[in-house]
Amino acid sequence: MKLKRITPLIFCFCLTILSGCTKKSDTADSEMDRFIDDLLSRMTLDEKIGQTVLYTSGYDVITGPTVDPDYKEYLKKGMVGGIFNAVGADYTRSLQKIAVEETRLGIPLIFGYDVIHGQRTIFPIPLAESCSWDLEAMERSAKIAASEATAEGVNWIYAPMVDISRDPRWGRVAEGAGEDVYLGSLIAAARVKGFQGNSLKDKNTVVACVKHYAAYGATMAGRDYNTVDMSLNELWNTYLPPFKAALDAGCGTIMTSFNDLNGIPATGNNYLLKEILRDRWNFNGFVVTDYTSINEMIPHGYAKDEKHSAEIAMNAGVNMDMQGGVYMNHLKTLVEEGKVSEKEITEAARAILRIKYKLGLFEDPYRYCDTDREKTDILTVENKEAARDIARKSMVLLKNDNQTLPLKEDKRIALIGPLAKDQYEILGCWSAMGNRDTIPVSVYEGLVDAIGENRISYAKGCDIQSEDTKGFNEAVKMASAADVVVMVMGEYHNMSGENNSRTDLSLPGVQLDLLKAIKKTGKPIVLVLMNGRPLTINWEKENMDAILEAWFPGTMGGAAIADVLTGKYNPSGKLTMTFPQRVGQIPLFYNHKNTGRPFDPNDPQFAYGSKYWDVSNDPLYPFGHGLSYTTFSYSDLTLSSKEITSTNPLKISIKLTNTGKYDGEEVVQLYTRDLVGSITRPVKELKGFKKVFLKAGESQNIEFTLTVDDLRFYNANLKYDYEPGDFHLFVGGSSDTKIKTGFVLE
Ligand code: NOJ
Repeated sequence: MKLKRITPLIFCFCLTILSGCTKKSDTADSEMDRFIDDLLSRMTLDEKIGQTVLYTSGYDVITGPTVDPDYKEYLKKGMVGGIFNAVGADYTRSLQKIAVEETRLGIPLIFGYDVIHGQRTIFPIPLAESCSWDLEAMERSAKIAASEATAEGVNWIYAPMVDISRDPRWGRVAEGAGEDVYLGSLIAAARVKGFQGNSLKDKNTVVACVKHYAAYGATMAGRDYNTVDMSLNELWNTYLPPFKAALDAGCGTIMTSFNDLNGIPATGNNYLLKEILRDRWNFNGFVVTDYTSINEMIPHGYAKDEKHSAEIAMNAGVNMDMQGGVYMNHLKTLVEEGKVSEKEITEAARAILRIKYKLGLFEDPYRYCDTDREKTDILTVENKEAARDIARKSMVLLKNDNQTLPLKEDKRIALIGPLAKDQYEILGCWSAMGNRDTIPVSVYEGLVDAIGENRISYAKGCDIQSEDTKGFNEAVKMASAADVVVMVMGEYHNMSGENNSRTDLSLPGVQLDLLKAIKKTGKPIVLVLMNGRPLTINWEKENMDAILEAWFPGTMGGAAIADVLTGKYNPSGKLTMTFPQRVGQIPLFYNHKNTGRPFDPNDPQFAYGSKYWDVSNDPLYPFGHGLSYTTFSYSDLTLSSKEITSTNPLKISIKLTNTGKYDGEEVVQLYTRDLVGSITRPVKELKGFKKVFLKAGESQNIEFTLTVDDLRFYNANLKYDYEPGDFHLFVGGSSDTKIKTGFVLE
């Protein structure tokens, strides 16, 4: 009896597949459309509303994932279209079985999860990965995350997070790709490709969900969920492009953000969701809210009650309600009252059903509930190796005086600090099903594995955050007896991520005091940092011999850190977020505007240059900065012409030489400055980069091609265009490069 309900669907699907297997994708699309039209024609309004409803599964330590008994009942009645946070092949199968066998039409569920940087094999936090500037490696890590997630029943991933982040007080900078729009857009596309692969139907791919739309990264004062008020120029030039890039890469779904934007909550924002997303960008996937963000339009002061919030959201173009319950409770009445049209709901259901179809769920609702894959495809040797590889590529060598690193053989090492033996924080925020207790490799383990136990002594010294200095003496004694000290310090993993903002960006607790105590021993000190955001490490910069920014490096973090410390891997990461000297400088980012009174360091007496009383305008470490154990020199910058036109792109060439003793990689960065615009333009903008490997002593000519399209921006009328005029061009290993020339756009 129950099976009969799904039979027509499967039959219909088989017909479409059989008749369409040799045809092109537009034919496949029209077959999908026919299938969905037919399905929609048989759905009641309640069933269509059901597709727009998404609920979370809870988690019970003994039984594992659970679903609220109420939701289970709704599920049986066909009132739920998706479940998130339900993980496990058996568990998701049991829920899917209810949807397929116990509801009238047997429409399968979609299963979502926050797989932000890995499912079981945890990769470095996304901010860290972005510092690798290695798009292929990022695509690979997303691919592995998707493969592990699908082995556990998940087919919809709430990533990539593409919010441009210029405020390190905001905890969520850890989840994104940093402050730059060009790099951020490329990374957004790479991650989508990694998650979605060539076909959503493949067993090991998922549909991605780009988030948080839009401008969430500009949350006022870095406090989460806060107001965003910005010009449309800023929105279009800085905050929207990574979303566009993700959607152009085929991203199937998009999540609204919690913030309001220029007075309208993003979840009720017709301009964002209909005008831009549907009308200008022709998006045909579906829009899901963030967690209860429809309901939150009430405290925002934009909706008077839940029913009103449902009306606003549906009419603004929100297709699926995450956990808010307001679509389930109010849409039907709103249709009856004529406040929401049934067509709007039909279109929402259609968008959701299309994604389910593309995932192959109508063909086989259980294709992602494979207990065999769950046993074989997770935490594999290859997956862990890939995690180790990208972890070391993500680390940024901020400082390395006197070639303190790599660590010399035969030296005794004192390994000190609250994170030196840690296997818990090392995974960072949002670590999905990553096991925090036993699997991750600590720095201690990684180092012992690399060089043996004999040369390493260990002391914790202090906690991440407490006033307790009792461990200082032992740590100082240990440091005194060693040749070199490696201090592993930083933040708790949950000092970054959602709603984990900080106003003080120094090392928490007494960690700095411990550093100062160790400094008195006179031993060379290497500081290894694990943290989810740029920190204000001024004293550390002055007083440490070497600083390695390791971020939260994930499951294989300790092994990857050991690879870098011992020189098995020569660091190549470059910062994708500016490190400020002081919190008071924030927001501080490299591609700022010039102002009418730019501060001139050659004329510091000029009283009215834009500046602070108590600190220079300079960052502590700029965007793009990162050292290697070798050194690189740049020479012979040449342009193919002094002019660029729509028919004549500019060819740029620069000679890069590895002038040091080690083989190594450099990220060669290309920036331009548009000197005069119809709106004011940034002092520098990244326009290209190449990650180049050179053997010690080797040289290579690095070439870039710049077209007029690369110089487009949204002007005052929001037209995406380029403008004739003079440009500066910069090339180098960091955004503060002084290697400069110019050209004219005719
Ligand atoms: C809230 C977060 O803002 C979002 O990023 C996440 O995907 C959802 N919760 C679901 O967990």
